[in-house]
Amino acid sequence: GKVCLAYSGGLDTSCILRWLMEEGYEVVCFLANVGQEEDWAAVEAKALKIGAVKMVIEDLQKEFVEDLCFRAVQCNAIYEGRYLLGTSLARPVIARAQMKVAIQEGCDFVSHGCTGKGNDQVRFELAFLTIQPSIKIIAPWRDPKFFDRFQGRNDLLDYAEKTGLPVTSTKAKPWSMDANLAHISYEAGVLEDPDHTPDDDMWLMTDDPVKAPNEPEDVNVYFEKGVPTKVKTLKDGKEYTDSVELFTLLNKIGKLHGIGRVDIVENRFIGLKSRGCYESPAMTVLRWAHLDLEGLVMDAQVRSLRDQFVTHKWSEFLYNGMYFSPEREFVENSLVFAQKRVNGMVRLRLYKGNVFVLGRSSETEKLYSEEEASMDSLDNFSPEDTTGFIGICSIRLKKYGLQKIEEGGL
Ligand code: ARG
Ligand code: SIN
Repeated sequence: GKVCLAYSGGLDTSCILRWLMEEGYEVVCFLANVGQEEDWAAVEAKALKIGAVKMVIEDLQKEFVEDLCFRAVQCNAIYEGRYLLGTSLARPVIARAQMKVAIQEGCDFVSHGCTGKGNDQVRFELAFLTIQPSIKIIAPWRDPKFFDRFQGRNDLLDYAEKTGLPVTSTKAKPWSMDANLAHISYEAGVLEDPDHTPDDDMWLMTDDPVKAPNEPEDVNVYFEKGVPTKVKTLKDGKEYTDSVELFTLLNKIGKLHGIGRVDIVENRFIGLKSRGCYESPAMTVLRWAHLDLEGLVMDAQVRSLRDQFVTHKWSEFLYNGMYFSPEREFVENSLVFAQKRVNGMVRLRLYKGNVFVLGRSSETEKLYSEEEASMDSLDNFSPEDTTGFIGICSIRLKKYGLQKIEEGGL
């Protein structure tokens, strides 16, 4: 049979590639460019050297930013109040592209190097099964033929040496990483002790906020229908309108000012707790700007419903690998509706790990009125109206108060 393997060039997937060949498969390797730093040519050379019949590398950055990251911004997406979902967001575009390659190349199988304990296996496989269930999945880390033989990193290194795999001599980091435009994640290894503080040199996408410049940097972020459309840097007056460019720019400026570091213990879908460190500079800046603009332009009840329901559920669907699902589609339609009027601009100041809002404006919004908000004028309603409003709101509360008096008072 023919397999399309998600290949990274690392030790695990290099061993998986050779092992699949040993098991009699022809292997097409697939690698997605979602904005991670990579020596693409070296990965391709390595795959072919090990024995892949073909290596396909696809640039998915634009699709990733526009279809997933910007949706997450529109949604203010966040998991368990902290994690901006960088890995979860990349999985659907990677799985979709890998499946397309598998179909084009006439593969009967797809394969990946995810462990049997994580979220990623669930995300990839649910996506694969939804997109093309006739293509079977090979998950080596859950296949006894594989994991009985390779119990840890040393077994993999031995195998690599014995079978002449080109393993790079660079010492492996004592944690596992996943990088894309939205973030870098760090998990496992020394981080498994939730009370172990990582050394500062672990963080690659943000500089230490403590050592960040004493000069702040100001940027304006523009939105149309809740989607970031432009970023202007005040320092030089430059404007960026290309989605990937503006996203990359915010990652760059955010890095310099130490924006978007998170260190958490989270609940994985499969029921395990896991400690993870994340840094997502651009996502942090955009989410903050977007949240702020919504305050100016969004209807209060729509916003409240969206917060309780869409933000929470969309984030959970993405985390749990339910991107290709009717519930995600349903919720996203209401999200698009809720964002119809989220147009405007937010002025931000980035400074020592913080994003400060300097001001916001919108040419199209009609909900906020300086006059109405002002204490001096009360043209639209009279003070007596408000007396009635408070009186009516208090009907129910007075009864509660009486009960409380019986119980000893509030
Ligand atoms: N815990 C995060 C998540 O589930 C990050 C996963 C990182 N994945 C990886 N293959 N290193 O989204
Ligand atoms: C893995 O276990 O393969 C990475 C972590 C995760 O998927 O949660």
